[in-house]
Amino acid sequence: MHIHKLEKIWLTIGISMLFVFLGVLGVSAFAMGLQPPSEHHHMLDPAKVYETAPFDKPGLRQTGDNTYEAVMTAFTFGYAPDKMEIPLGATIDFVVTSQDVVHGFEIPGTNINMMIVPGEVSHVSHKFTKPGEYLILCNEYCGGAHEFMKTTIIVK
Ligand code: CUA
Repeated sequence: MHIHKLEKIWLTIGISMLFVFLGVLGVSAFAMGLQPPSEHHHMLDPAKVYETAPFDKPGLRQTGDNTYEAVMTAFTFGYAPDKMEIPLGATIDFVVTSQDVVHGFEIPGTNINMMIVPGEVSHVSHKFTKPGEYLILCNEYCGGAHEFMKTTIIVK
Protein backbone atom coordinates (compact mmCIF):
# COMPACT_ATOMS: atom_id res chain seq x y z
CA MET A 1 0.00 0.00 0.00
CA HIS A 2 1.29 3.36 -0.97
CA ILE A 3 1.14 6.30 1.43
CA HIS A 4 1.29 9.77 -0.01
CA LYS A 5 3.95 12.12 1.27
CA LEU A 6 1.36 14.51 2.72
CA GLU A 7 -0.35 11.70 4.62
CA LYS A 8 3.00 10.65 6.02
CA ILE A 9 3.61 14.16 7.31
CA TRP A 10 0.20 14.32 8.96
CA LEU A 11 0.68 10.88 10.47
CA THR A 12 4.04 11.96 11.90
CA ILE A 13 2.53 15.15 13.34
CA GLY A 14 -0.38 13.18 14.81
CA ILE A 15 1.86 10.64 16.48
CA SER A 16 4.19 13.35 17.78
CA MET A 17 1.22 15.21 19.29
CA LEU A 18 0.08 12.00 20.95
CA PHE A 19 3.48 11.52 22.56
CA VAL A 20 3.62 15.16 23.69
CA PHE A 21 0.16 14.77 25.22
CA LEU A 22 1.07 11.53 27.00
CA GLY A 23 4.29 13.16 28.19
CA VAL A 24 2.42 16.09 29.71
CA LEU A 25 -0.04 13.72 31.40
CA GLY A 26 2.79 11.63 32.81
CA VAL A 27 4.73 14.62 34.11
CA SER A 28 1.70 16.22 35.79
CA ALA A 29 0.66 12.91 37.39
CA PHE A 30 4.21 12.52 38.66
CA ALA A 31 4.24 16.10 40.01
CA MET A 32 0.91 15.60 41.79
CA GLY A 33 2.22 12.42 43.34
CA LEU A 34 5.09 14.36 44.83
CA GLN A 35 2.92 17.05 46.42
CA PRO A 36 2.82 17.00 50.21
CA PRO A 37 -0.60 16.31 51.74
CA SER A 38 -2.67 19.45 52.29
CA GLU A 39 -2.25 21.06 55.70
CA HIS A 40 -5.93 21.96 55.71
CA HIS A 41 -6.99 18.35 55.85
CA HIS A 42 -5.53 17.31 59.14
CA MET A 43 -6.46 13.63 59.42
CA LEU A 44 -6.49 11.38 62.43
CA ASP A 45 -7.85 7.96 63.35
CA PRO A 46 -11.25 8.44 65.08
CA ALA A 47 -10.71 5.24 67.08
CA LYS A 48 -7.52 6.72 68.54
CA VAL A 49 -8.86 10.18 69.41
CA TYR A 50 -8.55 9.32 73.13
CA GLU A 51 -4.80 8.84 72.79
CA THR A 52 -4.06 11.42 70.08
CA ALA A 53 -2.80 14.85 71.18
CA PRO A 54 -4.30 17.32 71.76
CA PHE A 55 -7.55 15.34 72.01
CA ASP A 56 -6.20 13.07 74.74
CA LYS A 57 -6.64 16.08 77.07
CA PRO A 58 -9.70 18.05 75.95
CA GLY A 59 -10.08 21.46 77.54
CA LEU A 60 -9.02 25.06 77.49
CA ARG A 61 -5.45 26.24 77.32
CA GLN A 62 -3.99 29.70 76.95
CA THR A 63 -2.11 30.34 73.71
CA GLY A 64 -1.60 34.12 73.89
CA ASP A 65 -2.34 37.32 75.84
CA ASN A 66 -6.06 36.99 75.35
CA THR A 67 -6.38 33.89 73.19
CA TYR A 68 -7.19 30.37 74.19
CA GLU A 69 -7.49 27.06 72.42
CA ALA A 70 -10.55 25.01 73.28
CA VAL A 71 -9.86 21.38 72.38
CA MET A 72 -13.09 19.40 72.23
CA THR A 73 -14.26 16.00 71.08
CA ALA A 74 -17.74 15.07 69.90
CA PHE A 75 -19.20 11.61 70.41
CA THR A 76 -22.57 9.86 70.62
CA PHE A 77 -24.06 11.64 72.52
CA GLY A 78 -22.08 14.47 74.01
CA TYR A 79 -18.97 16.58 74.00
CA ALA A 80 -15.80 16.59 76.05
CA PRO A 81 -15.11 18.46 78.21
CA ASP A 82 -18.65 18.53 79.49
CA LYS A 83 -18.56 22.07 80.91
CA MET A 84 -16.01 24.69 80.13
CA GLU A 85 -15.44 28.13 81.60
CA ILE A 86 -14.25 30.78 79.20
CA PRO A 87 -12.81 34.19 80.14
CA LEU A 88 -14.96 37.09 78.98
CA GLY A 89 -13.52 39.00 76.02
CA ALA A 90 -11.03 36.30 75.06
CA THR A 91 -10.73 34.89 71.56
CA ILE A 92 -11.33 31.17 71.61
CA ASP A 93 -9.98 28.91 68.89
CA PHE A 94 -12.14 25.80 68.92
CA VAL A 95 -10.38 22.66 67.72
CA VAL A 96 -12.89 19.84 67.40
CA THR A 97 -12.98 16.28 66.15
CA SER A 98 -15.36 13.32 66.35
CA GLN A 99 -14.72 9.98 68.01
CA ASP A 100 -17.32 8.14 65.95
CA VAL A 101 -19.83 9.55 63.47
CA VAL A 102 -20.61 12.93 61.90
CA HIS A 103 -21.83 15.45 64.49
CA GLY A 104 -22.70 19.12 64.49
CA PHE A 105 -21.18 21.91 66.55
CA GLU A 106 -23.43 24.91 66.76
CA ILE A 107 -23.45 27.69 69.34
CA PRO A 108 -26.72 29.61 68.94
CA GLY A 109 -26.23 33.36 69.19
CA THR A 110 -22.81 33.15 67.54
CA ASN A 111 -21.62 32.47 63.99
CA ILE A 112 -20.28 29.08 65.07
CA ASN A 113 -21.81 26.24 63.08
CA MET A 114 -19.54 23.41 62.02
CA MET A 115 -19.86 19.87 60.82
CA ILE A 116 -17.60 17.55 62.78
CA VAL A 117 -16.43 14.72 60.55
CA PRO A 118 -14.66 11.66 62.01
CA GLY A 119 -11.03 11.61 60.95
CA GLU A 120 -10.91 15.37 60.44
CA VAL A 121 -10.13 18.32 62.69
CA SER A 122 -12.43 21.35 62.47
CA HIS A 123 -11.41 24.85 63.51
CA VAL A 124 -13.41 27.97 64.29
CA SER A 125 -12.59 31.10 66.29
CA HIS A 126 -14.90 33.33 68.27
CA LYS A 127 -14.57 36.22 70.67
CA PHE A 128 -17.10 36.02 73.49
CA THR A 129 -18.01 39.56 74.53
CA LYS A 130 -21.19 38.80 76.48
CA PRO A 131 -21.10 36.87 79.73
CA GLY A 132 -23.47 34.00 80.28
CA GLU A 133 -24.16 30.40 79.44
CA TYR A 134 -23.84 29.28 75.84
CA LEU A 135 -25.19 25.99 74.55
CA ILE A 136 -23.22 23.84 72.16
CA LEU A 137 -25.67 21.78 70.13
CA CYS A 138 -25.41 18.92 67.68
CA ASN A 139 -27.30 19.79 64.52
CA GLU A 140 -26.38 16.73 62.46
CA TYR A 141 -28.54 13.65 62.99
CA CYS A 142 -26.25 11.12 64.68
CA GLY A 143 -28.54 8.51 66.23
CA GLY A 144 -31.17 7.87 68.87
CA ALA A 145 -30.17 10.51 71.40
CA HIS A 146 -29.10 13.10 68.83
CA GLU A 147 -31.53 15.71 70.12
CA PHE A 148 -30.06 15.45 73.62
CA MET A 149 -26.49 15.91 72.46
CA LYS A 150 -25.29 19.18 73.92
CA THR A 151 -23.03 20.83 76.43
CA THR A 152 -22.62 24.23 78.01
CA ILE A 153 -19.85 26.77 78.11
CA ILE A 154 -19.83 29.51 80.67
CA VAL A 155 -18.41 32.89 79.75
CA LYS A 156 -17.43 35.07 82.70
CU1 CUA B 1 -24.38 14.29 67.46
CU2 CUA B 1 -26.47 14.70 66.54
